[in-house]
Amino acid sequence: MTRWHSRPVGEVAGRLSVPGDKSVSHRALMLGAVADGPITVDGFLEGADCVATRRALEAMGATIESLGAGRLRVHGRGPEGLRSPDEPLDLGNSGTGIRLMTGLLTGLMLDATLTGDASLQSRPMERVAEPLRLMGGRVTTTNGCPPITVEHGPRLRGIEYSLPVASAQVKSALLLAGLFADGETVIRQPGISRDHTERMLGALGAPISFEDALVRLHGPCRLHGEDIVVPGDFSSAAFFIVAGLLAAPSGLTVEGVGVNPTRVGLLRMLEAMGGDIELVKLRHASGEPVADIRVRKSHLRAIDVEPQWVPLAIDEFPVFFVAAAVADGVTRVRGAEELRHKESDRIDAMARALKAVGAEVEARPDGMLVRGGELRGGRVESRGDHRVAMAMAVAGAVSRDGVSIEDTGNVATSFPGFAESSASVGLAIDVEQTP
Ligand code: S3P
Repeated sequence: MTRWHSRPVGEVAGRLSVPGDKSVSHRALMLGAVADGPITVDGFLEGADCVATRRALEAMGATIESLGAGRLRVHGRGPEGLRSPDEPLDLGNSGTGIRLMTGLLTGLMLDATLTGDASLQSRPMERVAEPLRLMGGRVTTTNGCPPITVEHGPRLRGIEYSLPVASAQVKSALLLAGLFADGETVIRQPGISRDHTERMLGALGAPISFEDALVRLHGPCRLHGEDIVVPGDFSSAAFFIVAGLLAAPSGLTVEGVGVNPTRVGLLRMLEAMGGDIELVKLRHASGEPVADIRVRKSHLRAIDVEPQWVPLAIDEFPVFFVAAAVADGVTRVRGAEELRHKESDRIDAMARALKAVGAEVEARPDGMLVRGGELRGGRVESRGDHRVAMAMAVAGAVSRDGVSIEDTGNVATSFPGFAESSASVGLAIDVEQTP
């Protein structure tokens, strides 16, 4: 296991880039594997989650060629190119991997068992299994969690389905199944969630339309080969955006970050707190908006987070809570019960971690109250959650005595090299191996 010591630093500054977007990397692999023709992916995230998805597709017969750091070619041979795997598929720590692969396997009418690590085995899977069964799929869970079993059956039929919670993973699982189903798959959501699947399907020629919280896809359809450039992951940039707002008087820039409007709720929240944030060099890569994000140390004031912002910032709450813990006043987050179903229960994990370093916080069933003040520092548990670990590393940088964070190995699921990237802009994280 590894432990980090994030030491207090007076100032951070400079420019850096972050690894490729995890959500886009997963989708590039899966859609590439069923496309008619090869797809070259540039900027692919070589993190453990996406590597697990790659291995799962290879176990189903996909040919994926490494072309160098962050560059690979997926040799799609259409849906016929994939077969049932001989062994259970292990998706590691990845909710996106297991949920999207369940949709893909069901649509392809294959047989498989899907499982993962202890954290993944405690996460809810009926949210994908149930609508897939309504499409005609034979999907079973184990008390609602992995292992998930998919059995082949007749071709699926498109359905109209209203998601009980805004979830890009559930929506994407249904779209992947809908690709091979007869008729239209129509998905309604109670709020807007990330739309990378819709954008990529459109770019690969699928008959899809999407606006706000409504998606329509006509199946069955084929995808053509088209090269994909993966932008830097906004969720990884988030740690430096907050570090810069707290400690970069001369500014800090994160280059080449995906700024899809369905992902950047954190920017809206930090701007509402008084954060000095600028997007420069706006451009596009494979249908996704990309920019350099420049931030400068700002006096942050508490806000009430609107519940409709929550899905647009769902992965950024751990580091947002850190910003709230040093802002003036009491920040309130409501409507964020979903945070309890991530790689850890992020409301409980962050409330305990912030209390352990001297913050005044109150966990609520669907959110948190955070009173800003000085962070003393101390020792915290990451619960094996990559984003809790990285958020608390930012807390350490602005604390009085520094923060020690246990069990940081899973940072490699989304951000290999986080400690080195952090050092390049002045954060100080000592990495210690523990027994
Ligand atoms: C993701 C969707 C979100 C997010 C996760 C990645 C995706 O999960 O938390 O890290 O790639 O579709 P939900 O769909 O469960 O909200």
